Amino acid sequence: MTASGRANHGLRDEIKAYWSVRAETFDTQPGHEIFSEAERRAWLDLLRRHIGEGQGRRALDLACGTAVISHLLDDLGFDVTGMDWAEPMLERARAKAKTRGRKIRFLTGDAENTMEPDDVYDVVVNRHLVWTLVDPLACFKEWRRVLKPGGMLLVVDGDFVNTTVLSRVFGAMAGWISRLGGGAGPRHGAGPDLAATHRSILSRVHFSNGARAGAVADMLAEAGFRDIVVDANLAAIHRAQRADFGLLRGLERAAQHRYVITARR
Ligand SMILES: C[S@@+](CC[C@H](N)C(=O)[O-])C[C@H]1O[C@@H](n2cnc3c(N)ncnc32)[C@H](O)[C@@H]1O
Repeated sequence: MTASGRANHGLRDEIKAYWSVRAETFDTQPGHEIFSEAERRAWLDLLRRHIGEGQGRRALDLACGTAVISHLLDDLGFDVTGMDWAEPMLERARAKAKTRGRKIRFLTGDAENTMEPDDVYDVVVNRHLVWTLVDPLACFKEWRRVLKPGGMLLVVDGDFVNTTVLSRVFGAMAGWISRLGGGAGPRHGAGPDLAATHRSILSRVHFSNGARAGAVADMLAEAGFRDIVVDANLAAIHRAQRADFGLLRGLERAAQHRYVITARR
């Protein structure tokens, strides 16, 4: 194994360990779990717009975490498999499905090497995975491999490195109000220790300069996907999330470069 191979292996382990700890509070945070019917409807509308009703088709929710997206796919009538490499995430995903009486299959696995057969899924979906991938091109080729010919990929992600001016302004205002004791709403994410780990990981992943939609779309084309479409209209979701984030934090989030990309095998 080369020196860089060892470095990559170490980074993957760090990412897995980071999310295993984040699993403890993941579902308490807006932006992850859904806390209102308005937000649920907005997500369902977005998924329906891009991949349609499930009608029993097979969907793979990669890096499913606690299965927020898996449940939406189940709501739409897909036959859903959720996969993640962090066991604490999957424990919560399994418990949630049991509580809600859902038949979602959960597998422990790496999005870069799913161990699933060729040509089996109608749809592959992931949310907030691409930005943290060590080798996104290998992943995209793997996702294309497990899709049936003509199957759809749907990626929900964002650039969490390059902030827009508006996002910085709203974030700063929220910070001031919070320091004055005005309660500007919860800041999404981890406490100070985990935030440092997050920064360190982010500085070493492939998209360390931010996962811009254009760069992700170009790489999907390189992996062999076609009919690639970028949709940055997440306004209905951001509007609904504002009730949980608070106005300023909600506006800060809405001003970030967030997007959906769909592509066809
Ligand atoms: C920000 S969370 C998103 C969880 C879920 N998709 C959601 O939107 O609620 C990122 C998830 O990606 C998982 N993850 C990161 N890299 C992965 C990989 N290569 N294979 C499988 N899971 C991965 C982490 O364990 C974590 O659960």
